[in-house]
Amino acid sequence: MIKISLTTRDGREHTLETNSGLSLMEAIRDAGVEGDFGLCGGCCACCSCHVYIEAGQHAVLPPPADNETDLLEFSDARKPQSRLACQIPLEGAMDGMRVVVAPED
Ligand code: FES
Repeated sequence: MIKISLTTRDGREHTLETNSGLSLMEAIRDAGVEGDFGLCGGCCACCSCHVYIEAGQHAVLPPPADNETDLLEFSDARKPQSRLACQIPLEGAMDGMRVVVAPED
């Protein structure tokens, strides 16, 4: 079981309890706590799954591929801690991670 602390766009706090084998986007979408999220289904084509990963926790994540970095460059809400949740496979090392859903562009 992996617990993720999530802040949605409306500022509400949630604790997601999920399993490895999903992406972070799928876990957020399946929890039904965020509206227009994961619109392209994880094809890395929409940026609707833009999230901020708590500072210091990027080290447990796989680095972004070029297509993820390229897509995020078009977002006005991009920050150093930005990632696309569909490109992050859930793993046990992510237990306790804090994630904030980025504003819509
Ligand atoms: S779901 Fe579309 S880029 Fe992640």
